[in-house]
Amino acid sequence: MNRKPTLAVVGATGAVGTVMLQILSQHADIWGEIRLVASPRSAGRKLAVRGAEVEVLALSEDVFDGVDVAMFDVPVDVAEQWAPIAASRGVVVVDNSAAFRMDPDVPLVVPEVNPHAARLRPRGIVANPNCTTLSMIVALGALHAEFGLRELIVSSYQAVSGAGKDGIDTLRRQLKLVAGSELGTGPGDVRRTVGDDTGPFPEPVALNVVPWVGALREDGWSSEEMKVRDESRKILGLPDLKVAVTCVRVPVVTTHSVTVHARFEDEVTVARAREILATAPGVVLFDDPAAGEFPTPADATGTDPTWVGRLRRALDDPTALEFFACGDNLRKGAALNTTQIAELIAGEFTSGG
Ligand SMILES: NC(=O)c1ccc[n+]([C@@H]2O[C@H](COP(=O)([O-])OP(=O)(O)OC[C@H]3O[C@@H](n4cnc5c(N)ncnc54)[C@H](OP(=O)(O)O)[C@@H]3O)[C@@H](O)[C@H]2O)c1
Repeated sequence: MNRKPTLAVVGATGAVGTVMLQILSQHADIWGEIRLVASPRSAGRKLAVRGAEVEVLALSEDVFDGVDVAMFDVPVDVAEQWAPIAASRGVVVVDNSAAFRMDPDVPLVVPEVNPHAARLRPRGIVANPNCTTLSMIVALGALHAEFGLRELIVSSYQAVSGAGKDGIDTLRRQLKLVAGSELGTGPGDVRRTVGDDTGPFPEPVALNVVPWVGALREDGWSSEEMKVRDESRKILGLPDLKVAVTCVRVPVVTTHSVTVHARFEDEVTVARAREILATAPGVVLFDDPAAGEFPTPADATGTDPTWVGRLRRALDDPTALEFFACGDNLRKGAALNTTQIAELIAGEFTSGG
């Protein structure tokens, strides 16, 4: 086959879908038709992609007729039901939800780290990693290729848009309630002002830090923490990697941040690590504390790379590095990585491969 493949964006109206349409308008125009799909609630709405208004279709079996590749950005239960239906109709599905990430017959792909994995997809589905994993894995993959990763200790500082539109709306609503106040000085004053409606979060998120992301798993771990552990192991091909993660929600709209303690096989030097990160595709090393230069979400939002700063060798372990990384959770953390995977697969159609 040597033609422009047809693409479907399923979940085109959501937080991730919206960014995906922007990215499709910015990237090389490799697609033939682009079909936009969402729930029946959105059917008939018009959204702009590649400079044209395209009508949103309600999800049904028929919307996959003639589609080659579909990017899914829908809740996990919708992906669980519909990705196999699309795949059974010959569509290659790139799914952004957690539904298939740990399925041994579904590759979990980061194009800068394991692009080869996308070619072997027994179920016709390729999974996109979780946004927190993606905020560090491109930098880690580059360091691992040189030094050999042995252990990972991670803390996250996650933006509210990781919980979709509902998360963004909740922070904005709460910020209005606390704006211009003296709140944050007495016990419970923020909670009383924000009220019981904490949206998708277990606690107020404005003027607060919430050490919980996801659902409860065994022994007090959260589902988000288990995702970072399981997915890092799968992407790096290190099934026994020691990983400890603590996930925390912060009052930031977009861009997840992480602190990383990474222990390697042998001694590492900061000088070599800097060289690796400065030349790794998809990474920007922004690290000059003397000049006040380190990444923050305020600067990383809306950009594609993983931003790395605060690079140091561990004081008590010459085999370990400490660093801070920021990645836009809606771009590289979701829409961009999914689009990059879809573009890899599109190459198979256009090259006849
Ligand atoms: N936000 C992030 O940082 C992030 C990062 C990585 C992965 N993800 C994953 O990406 C997926 C989408 O997340 P999001 O944050 O974009 O969520 P969102 O803002 O809530 O958007 C959900 C999308 O799914 C559509 N949808 C919901 N129910 C549907 C149904 N029954 N049939 C068809 N379409 C349906 C919605 O359409 P309507 O507008 O018509 O309701 C909307 O387009 C989730 O699985 C999420 O876990 C999110």
